[in-house]
Amino acid sequence: MENGAAPTAPAVIVAIDGPSGTGKSSTSKAVAAQLGLSYLDTGAQYRAITWWMVTNGIDTDDPHEIAAAAGKPEIVSGTDPAAPTITVDGTDVAGPIRTQEVTAKVSAVSAVPEVRTRITELQRTIAAGAPLGIVVEGRDIGTTVLPDADLKIFLTASAEARAARRSGELKGADVNVTREALIKRDAADSSRKTSPLAKADDAVEVDTTDLTLEQVIECVVTLVEEKRAEK
Ligand code: DC
Repeated sequence: MENGAAPTAPAVIVAIDGPSGTGKSSTSKAVAAQLGLSYLDTGAQYRAITWWMVTNGIDTDDPHEIAAAAGKPEIVSGTDPAAPTITVDGTDVAGPIRTQEVTAKVSAVSAVPEVRTRITELQRTIAAGAPLGIVVEGRDIGTTVLPDADLKIFLTASAEARAARRSGELKGADVNVTREALIKRDAADSSRKTSPLAKADDAVEVDTTDLTLEQVIECVVTLVEEKRAEK
């Protein structure tokens, strides 16, 4: 090359959607790290805005109150897959966004159109600024946020497998309680009016029920490499 710089692969945009407990986060982070891409956890952004609403006394049962406040918090996501970060108005909220209270309220907050417009804009800006490309995980990435993504993956798994994985993450939480909570949240996320959890028509569906995390990562890495080779 003229200036001696290493040849660079064209930026690749990967959308990974699916319900909770399908291995989206672990897979997305590992794929991004392995391929030198940025990584964005969009669920963390919805959790962050929910955390801000709860902390600031917004009634999360009132969509009008949520809509009126949707533009207030400044949410910043760090996109290094080895150390993703999330701050709200400069405060590190990586821990507080994982509490039961936020988890219980995030579906209601993320169903409000003003919240989705705000967060979707943020997501598109981050994706457009990723130099080598990005893996973006969520619920509506392939359908709404990045409909022109180079590769769309939709991860699924049985409710039993998803609950077992989440209980493991929550260090021994009751599997049946976790299963009911997951089913309830997925139903809310799938049935909301604005950009619900859905598989894009052109997404590749991967059922992870009987696969190890390593197998899922390998499968997605192969699919991304194929797309890159086509570009
Ligand atoms: O991935 P997660 O469990 O951290 O996501 C938390 C919630 O955020 C999820 O229940 C629905 C919402 N969400 C969304 O509405 N759209 C996205 N793209 C990502 C998450």
